[in-house]
Amino acid sequence: MGIRLVTTGASLRAQSRLLLTQKHGSSQGLVPTMGALHEGHAQLARTAVEQNDVVVASIFVNPLQFGEAADLERYPRTLEADMALLEEQGVDLVLAPSVDEMYPGGRPLVRITAGPLGEKWEGASRPGHFDGALTVVAKLLHLGIPGTGLPGNGAFVTGAGGGLPGYRAYFGQKDAQQLALVRRMVADLNFPVEIVAVPTVRSEDGLALSSRNRFLSGEEREAALVLSRSLRLIEDRANANEALDVESARALIESQPLVDLDYLEVVDPGTLEPLAENCRETPFRGEGLAIVAAKVGAVRLIDNVPLSS
Ligand code: PAF
Repeated sequence: MGIRLVTTGASLRAQSRLLLTQKHGSSQGLVPTMGALHEGHAQLARTAVEQNDVVVASIFVNPLQFGEAADLERYPRTLEADMALLEEQGVDLVLAPSVDEMYPGGRPLVRITAGPLGEKWEGASRPGHFDGALTVVAKLLHLGIPGTGLPGNGAFVTGAGGGLPGYRAYFGQKDAQQLALVRRMVADLNFPVEIVAVPTVRSEDGLALSSRNRFLSGEEREAALVLSRSLRLIEDRANANEALDVESARALIESQPLVDLDYLEVVDPGTLEPLAENCRETPFRGEGLAIVAAKVGAVRLIDNVPLSS
């Protein structure tokens, strides 16, 4: 069965119901994206395909999460290539709605507010970004709920286990703040979905894959490697149970003239609050997240590594 494209919530639900019935499926996975897909997205899709009977990917460039209209206009739209990549991974359905379908009547009056967790780090330089991202994620999580009602009689499809189909949604660890916020939203507002984090995919030289890498010149791409190298320094220290030498990692980035550092910090993975200063002076123990953001030329890049020891 080839991949199918739908453009409305109603047709997604009908197709999901059909596929779950045909496959005697008991689980559905959702992979929300904005398109311009790369190997990082392929990894999200593959993980979803491994773990679910039916997999839906969404492609929607969400105007609510862009600050400047020019950025929204510039965002690459590559539907045909995206569909091919998703089909290769075994995705069943693609939801690619229009802006009118997602926001009939214009921008929604009622939105999700990310709160203080959405105001720091990336939120500090992109005000309102996470409110817009969470609002569309909330809508997509609702649209992606497995289609359970059988047409006509209102009965439920029973999966292999006899209950309602399981429901999982997949987000990249690369966007650590978005992931933390989605987890909080789902927990705080009781969304009926399990959030699965998928590790960051890197190119061989360590650069985290991102749709923005295409805007880097050759020289800038080379300079950008300093971000993953600085995270590696911190990670190596954590793995060796040594004090995290964040200052040396920061100095490494600052020594690269094409890179303008915004932040490099070690934070709690759930709250994103900086970890106590003592993790810099005493051997590191526990869980942490080293996060970095910088401008390389005109391109803002983020990266992170989870720390555990
Ligand atoms: O990470 C993204 O691509 C977007 O922020 C998301 C989750 C698809 C919401 O528009």
